[in-house]
Amino acid sequence: MTLWSGRLGSQTADALWAFTQSISFDIRMARDDLEGSRAHVKGLGRAGLISAEEVESLLNALDRVGTELTEGALKPDVGDEDVHTLIERRVTELAGDTGAKLHTGRSRNDQVATALRLYCKRELAAVAEGIIGLCEVLSSRAKEAGDAYLPGYTHLQRAQPVLLAHHLLAHGWALLRDLDRLYSARTRLSVGPLGAGALAGSSLALDPDWVAAELGFEGRFENSLDAVSDRDFVAESLFVLSLVGVHLSRVGEEVVLWSTQEFGFLRLADRWATGSSMLPQKKNPDVAELARGKSGRIIGHLAGFMATLKGLPLSYNRDLQEDKEPLFDAFDQVGLALSALSGLLAEVSFDIDRMQEAADDPTSVAVDLAEWLVARGMPFRRAHAVVGGLVRDSLDRGVPLAELVEAHPELGQEAALLFEPKSAVRRRTTPGGAGPEPVAKQLQSFAEKLGSERRRWGLPST
Ligand code: ARG
Repeated sequence: MTLWSGRLGSQTADALWAFTQSISFDIRMARDDLEGSRAHVKGLGRAGLISAEEVESLLNALDRVGTELTEGALKPDVGDEDVHTLIERRVTELAGDTGAKLHTGRSRNDQVATALRLYCKRELAAVAEGIIGLCEVLSSRAKEAGDAYLPGYTHLQRAQPVLLAHHLLAHGWALLRDLDRLYSARTRLSVGPLGAGALAGSSLALDPDWVAAELGFEGRFENSLDAVSDRDFVAESLFVLSLVGVHLSRVGEEVVLWSTQEFGFLRLADRWATGSSMLPQKKNPDVAELARGKSGRIIGHLAGFMATLKGLPLSYNRDLQEDKEPLFDAFDQVGLALSALSGLLAEVSFDIDRMQEAADDPTSVAVDLAEWLVARGMPFRRAHAVVGGLVRDSLDRGVPLAELVEAHPELGQEAALLFEPKSAVRRRTTPGGAGPEPVAKQLQSFAEKLGSERRRWGLPST
């Protein structure tokens, strides 16, 4: 029997069920729907719409449904189009006539918005935990990298040496900003829609403020039309997840690049690599590639859902049911990527010799030579031209740059000391820079920020 059998006579067509059902995916919101329903039942009791015994009987039935669902004993029937229908149907079977009072003053429109907000709050916290885990890996790998350095790149051309710790933390800071975005998105979505009814509120003495507080929301909706039709929070969650995906993709891209024979900056632990079905010698970075690949799919979910939203009139429209699959998939994929990348990076080995050899490329001290001249009074533009000319000369004539520098009247032996290994990276002393001094401070501020994120997300300190 359908929820609307009073109004519509003939049996609903099979193809309609197949097309409109959401039980196959929204079943994962069961615990959120149960939580929302418990609060609603208590609210009905407070309003005097059901007796204390009825409250108890409904709460017992809801608990029982919860157990049946966890144990896999409750399966959807034909006609259980979504998780809300399934739960209400079973509560009614268990609590008899009282069950029929569960939906008093409530519509699936405010019900689904409530459940989905609860779901997002929980899942955003789980993503935050995953990000914090990855940041911890980056932080400890950075600490352990000490003064190891590698070429820093712009345009993927060697530019200036940077500490490996600095490079790893650059990814870490991006992820810390994601944590901040997750936190504010989560705070913004902490609004209880229950009590908005189908779209206009209720004639019954319901108390949306109370029910919102009971569910742990920061407050209730201000406008019932908005409450049932707002899916900003889904779009915003998808955006934050997309951006986390983009950040993971960039880490993945560098793992792919660095693990090539051409770069040779890192070796994957065997258990974080895959082999080839045909080529016996292969060791492939599939995890890193999928971190890169899956981010495309998450961006697609964001774009797709924005398109779903853009033409909708107020208030609830069934199109809104299309919010769930992209959102669930984005949470799943980001969660999986975070654990896989954290594991991979915790066990990767860096080839420091190879990195440093690449960074000791004489041309990477070019800017230091120019700055050496600037410190002695030469305008920077002229110093840039002098050193640029020497680099060109060295490449054209095949003479080592150091020799040309030594022989140059304005540079000479003292300037040639800049070619000593490690010299260039040590000279990066400004705050936030890539040398050992500022990086030591950065490691500390990163650890402090990470500690405060742990506290803010309610995680025990390490
Ligand atoms: N499964 C629906 C959704 O996800 C629940 C709301 C249905 N409301 C309605 N008026 N048909 O949006």
